Amino acid sequence: MSATSYDQHETKTVYYTPATASKYVNNIFMSPLNIEWISSLICDSLELQPGHILVDMGCGVDPSQGMLDVFQEESGSNSNIKTVCMDAVTFGQSTNYSPYDRIFMKTMIHLLTREERLIAFKGFYKHLAPNNGKLLICRNPDMLEILPFDERTKSFFAKGEHLETLLDDLKHAGFKQIQEKKFTFEYPSGSVTAEDWIYLVQNRLWTVLSKENVNEQQMEDLIDHVRR
Ligand SMILES: C[S@@+](CC[C@H](N)C(=O)[O-])C[C@H]1O[C@@H](n2cnc3c(N)ncnc32)[C@H](O)[C@@H]1O
Repeated sequence: MSATSYDQHETKTVYYTPATASKYVNNIFMSPLNIEWISSLICDSLELQPGHILVDMGCGVDPSQGMLDVFQEESGSNSNIKTVCMDAVTFGQSTNYSPYDRIFMKTMIHLLTREERLIAFKGFYKHLAPNNGKLLICRNPDMLEILPFDERTKSFFAKGEHLETLLDDLKHAGFKQIQEKKFTFEYPSGSVTAEDWIYLVQNRLWTVLSKENVNEQQMEDLIDHVRR
């Protein structure tokens, strides 16, 4: 696909199953302790200064109007916050919003194909403030370390993001000072059970567990496997 064909780039806009709206996501990914922990790490890494323009890619800038509505509802009437209905590739190519000081991508990089990601990174690099612009990417925990998936399901997760390729793509786009850090959050004992995780698998929270990849029967087998 040529770069120009991304001018009208289209992405899927429905990512969420009922699992994301459930209390299970709240228990696991949105518990107050978890939110406090991750927010503080993000704030430290962003090193925001007064007057900085921060792009929250994958919620403040998002191809899904539904997600933008939730974002707007939660951020209230703060006139400093603007939403843009656009995908990352198109945004990276646009000159309407640049220069920006920070780009923040939390739990969304895996939703771009490698080709999309490369084009988006090049655009971000070009449009970030020249002296101390910064791109912060926060990725999912490695699900293969958390749940005992069967080999078939493992292969879907394994096809996803490889850190080395991600770092190569950033270099290729022009980024020079690239740092990688891994943080671990420990849930208070007893606050999350195996059944909480199984609920998320059953409800296909992760895009790799789509019905195309895992049909109903395969899902039943997968749950049996995880329970064993
Ligand atoms: C898992 S959610 C993460 C939302 C938020 N960043 C967070 O961490 O809570 C992924 C978000 O990325 C958005 N998204 C998917 N594809 C995108 C793309 N090509 N460009 C920008 N955002 C995208 C989805 O609509 C969704 O809002």
